[in-house]
Amino acid sequence: FPVTIREMPADTGAYFDKLRTEFQAGGGEIDVIGGDVIWPIQFAAQGWVQDLTENFPASEQNKFLPAHIQACTYEGAIYAVPWFEDAGVLYSRTDLLEKAGYSAPPKTWDELKEMALKISQDEGIPNGFVFQGKNYEGGVCDALEYIRTHGGDVLSNVTSGKVIIDSPEATAGLETYHSMITDGVAPKAVANYDETTSVPVFGNGEAVFLREWPGTYGDIAGGAYKIKADQVTVSPIPVASGNESSSTLGGWTFMINAQSDLQDEAWEFVKFMSSYESFKFRAVNGGYISARKAILDAPAVQEAIPTVKLAKDVLLEYATSRPVTQYYGDMSLEMQEQFNNALTGDTSPQQAVETLQKSLSSIMQQAE
Ligand code: GLC
Repeated sequence: FPVTIREMPADTGAYFDKLRTEFQAGGGEIDVIGGDVIWPIQFAAQGWVQDLTENFPASEQNKFLPAHIQACTYEGAIYAVPWFEDAGVLYSRTDLLEKAGYSAPPKTWDELKEMALKISQDEGIPNGFVFQGKNYEGGVCDALEYIRTHGGDVLSNVTSGKVIIDSPEATAGLETYHSMITDGVAPKAVANYDETTSVPVFGNGEAVFLREWPGTYGDIAGGAYKIKADQVTVSPIPVASGNESSSTLGGWTFMINAQSDLQDEAWEFVKFMSSYESFKFRAVNGGYISARKAILDAPAVQEAIPTVKLAKDVLLEYATSRPVTQYYGDMSLEMQEQFNNALTGDTSPQQAVETLQKSLSSIMQQAE
């Protein structure tokens, strides 16, 4: 049967808004949705997507990463099939690090700052570090890594629990975030950067470090940019001394519109797209981090894309979900705004976490 692909906005928030409008108007023409890992629970709670438990039983779910399965599960049923994984990683210009006498990528935020400033000055490179600081979903992903690598968090338990963001640790995380700009490590423009604007800066050789997702390595290796794969490595997100690394878990999933008349065909398509062979093709040719555990370990994949192994280690050891609740969409809008304000300095880190403590708590109270 023929499948028509519809191109949706690259910004996950804009894509979400578009889908929501269509679902609220009755579901439209959509059968299968390739959607962000933060959506299945929200969509399931609205009744917009199909319960897939019969076709996708626990024995199949076991072949995928547990944190991703958790994000697809709502009230004991599963509503999405994991597609690929994202986890925040640090990209470094290994050639420049070596030249400057550094033998490894930075492990702490202080080391990153020192290296970024020294190398950008010595080499006349305009930026030390670029990332996604804009007021949008990606800004939440980035800021959470600062909060968590300083020992803070949003909820006491990722699927439920109390809001705990008003803490000295979370405040310190946002202080480090803001200091990237005030210390001259990152350009002021990072407060408006998303993936599509930050990656080319690094890709064109205009930054020493980039925080991004693993798939970008595949684009670099594929020749999309001026810099080449042998000039780049990926490593875990740096920490504030004494803390564990943390990478925001991203990724994409397949869901089926509950209103679709083509339930069987839709499932056939999802089955094909999420098969071992399809995932392997995307891993080898696109550098995507497959949601199937077996592919992450396949030698053919690790050979084709050397960072798969590094990204996999980051994923398995440090990836942490954004709050896994049906209220995440509302929580995210609050965080997007406050994290962006803290980055630019419009709001102090202390004020930002105090504001969030109140607004997120009132959103989570709906759950009680
Ligand atoms: C990536 C991640 C997704 C995240 C988005 C933010 O696409 O896979 O989970 O929400 O970036 O921009």
